[in-house]
Amino acid sequence: MIPRDREQLTVPPDGKPLAEQPKWRQDFPIDWPQDEYISRRELTKFLVLTSLAFAVGQCWIVAQNFLRKRQGQPLVQQIARLDEIPVGGVRLFQYPDPHKSCVLVRLGETDFVAYDQQCTHLACPVIPEPQANRLYCPCHEGVFDLATGRPVAGPPRRPLPRIRLEIRDGTVYAVGYGEETT
Ligand code: FES
Repeated sequence: MIPRDREQLTVPPDGKPLAEQPKWRQDFPIDWPQDEYISRRELTKFLVLTSLAFAVGQCWIVAQNFLRKRQGQPLVQQIARLDEIPVGGVRLFQYPDPHKSCVLVRLGETDFVAYDQQCTHLACPVIPEPQANRLYCPCHEGVFDLATGRPVAGPPRRPLPRIRLEIRDGTVYAVGYGEETT
């Protein structure tokens, strides 16, 4: 780099050009133009490395989600036999792991819905009220539509995660967690 203002330059003790100086003197120059050049170079390096770290982090999150979804595919679990739950009846169950409480409600002869029981506001358990077509959260009076899981009153803004169901041979199975409400 050719300096524009020779007043800002100093001559190294040995009189050699900067390129031939020891590394410590190149990294910590005493000439202003050179110092500014190195500051810009360090800033650019910092920005590039930060962007790279950010991109790697994003890729890592995407990969984790992908693996989790793949591992979570075959989660089939028996919940109840049809003759165990009357129309309007409710059954609590754990899915997809023993720490996740979910609720199954029978809406009709072959019509069932199931949701994660944890309120999407501050995680209180919701209470199914089939006679009122709703799931009620007593903590802050949140209300979810029973047929869709969507919030209809109170502070919750997100729908309850839905459990996908299948009926085979007179038995209701949970076959997927967190399906979007349609
Ligand atoms: S936790 Fe359910 S409404 Fe607040």
